[in-house]
Amino acid sequence: MNLDELIKNRKAKVAIVGLGYVGLPTAVALAKAGYRVFGIDIKKERVNMTNRGKSYISDVSSEDLKKSIKSKKLRAFHNHLPLKNSDIILICVPTPLDKNKIPDISYILNTAKEIGKYLHKNQLIILESSTYPGTTKEIILPILQKSGFRVGKDFFLAYSPERIDPGNKDYALEDIARVVGGITKKCTQLTAQFYQSFIRAEVFSVSSSDVAEMTKNLENTFRLVNISMINELALLCGKMGIDIWEVITAAKTKPYGFTPFYPSPKVSGHCIPLDPFYLSYKAKEYNFGVRFIELAGEINEQMPHYVMAKVIWVLNLKAKPVRDSKVLIWGVSYKKDIEDTRGSAAYDIIADLIRKGAKVDYFDPYIPKFKVKHRILKKSAVLKSIKYSPKILKNYDLVLILTDHSGFDYDKLAKKSKLIVDTRNAIKSRKYKNIYRL
Ligand SMILES: NC(=O)c1ccc[n+]([C@@H]2O[C@H](COP(=O)([O-])OP(=O)(O)OC[C@H]3O[C@@H](n4cnc5c(N)ncnc54)[C@H](O)[C@@H]3O)[C@@H](O)[C@H]2O)c1
Repeated sequence: MNLDELIKNRKAKVAIVGLGYVGLPTAVALAKAGYRVFGIDIKKERVNMTNRGKSYISDVSSEDLKKSIKSKKLRAFHNHLPLKNSDIILICVPTPLDKNKIPDISYILNTAKEIGKYLHKNQLIILESSTYPGTTKEIILPILQKSGFRVGKDFFLAYSPERIDPGNKDYALEDIARVVGGITKKCTQLTAQFYQSFIRAEVFSVSSSDVAEMTKNLENTFRLVNISMINELALLCGKMGIDIWEVITAAKTKPYGFTPFYPSPKVSGHCIPLDPFYLSYKAKEYNFGVRFIELAGEINEQMPHYVMAKVIWVLNLKAKPVRDSKVLIWGVSYKKDIEDTRGSAAYDIIADLIRKGAKVDYFDPYIPKFKVKHRILKKSAVLKSIKYSPKILKNYDLVLILTDHSGFDYDKLAKKSKLIVDTRNAIKSRKYKNIYRL
């Protein structure tokens, strides 16, 4: 059978390289759709948990994962051998920045080399990781071509960005439209056909992998720039004594031409604050500076310092120095209702509070343990989430809300706490006098 038929009959065997926030939900969605799926990860723990049907990603229920494992549709591996027997390979590996904000594409390179070892005719390879325009064509294609196989004839290669929004219950992976762009027309057509076979939403084909990569960069740059812009206005509103949250609520009554973005202690996670810097890096090849991205990044990096300044100011109102103050951090994951802490403002803020001599506890129902390793600390600090009950709030001089996890009575939090700095507008009522917002 050729690939068209294998996809049509769901007989194609699909390998997913990287079983993280993107790879694991995709593996389960494909298994549900009837495909046989080989999940591959270099983290043994993730492989073992997957095979035991124990989910480590909050968007995937253990029940669904177990079903996929029990039906023998999904199996995870700690090596790349299944690539050999796969018809379709999805690359879902990390694309971080190094400490100098330079793209680290080593995970993509290593994966491409592994695929190169097992490449055979009639295979479709799709990159899903977020990256700069040109990665599929300039980085992956030459590695695969070393086999002597011809792209678009012997094997097929495309880019399709994952747009998953962890913690968002309104959009399952299958309900998010896909953009696909291949190296050749045939690559695009097969990729579109593949996604259409398990995605309920639209599959939108573009003219090249470069366009598909740039589309993802545009989406994430749009968010980073706008969130940074609203954060800058939040700082100004703070100085002017204007409630930015009320301003946004009012502005969004406009029926067109306005999209609401909300202040936060820092844009974090593995996508929005990173991908734009992939584009910024690539732009330098063209002697082009993407100033909006650089400016947005600068504002974003300053946000935790601003939050610290607010904490110091609020404690000062009650004649309290930071030293020896008891501070409870409410939420350390980078956004609500997920267990992902990558890049979270909590790292910077907890490190700074510890350095200034505060006694810091935190509460996060998703994160039992939080390790703060920060260059401003002499040694790393490992904190354990406290067990929350409203009674314990009286033990703290200040509660700092960094993440507004759902399912908590924020009015009670407001009533029982001495002071609160709320960076997320978790406390909606304006009647409390002990609340200070971003
Ligand atoms: N998390 C998100 O919200 C999100 C959304 C859209 C796109 N993305 C993009 O998707 C990509 C993956 O993100 P993620 O959040 O799933 O990352 P993740 O770190 O949760 O998962 C990636 C997995 O890949 C594994 N891995 C790394 N190298 C490997 C190799 N050579 N072979 C096998 N496994 C390997 C890692 O061990 C890890 O488990 C990134 O490019 C990210 O920017 C992420």
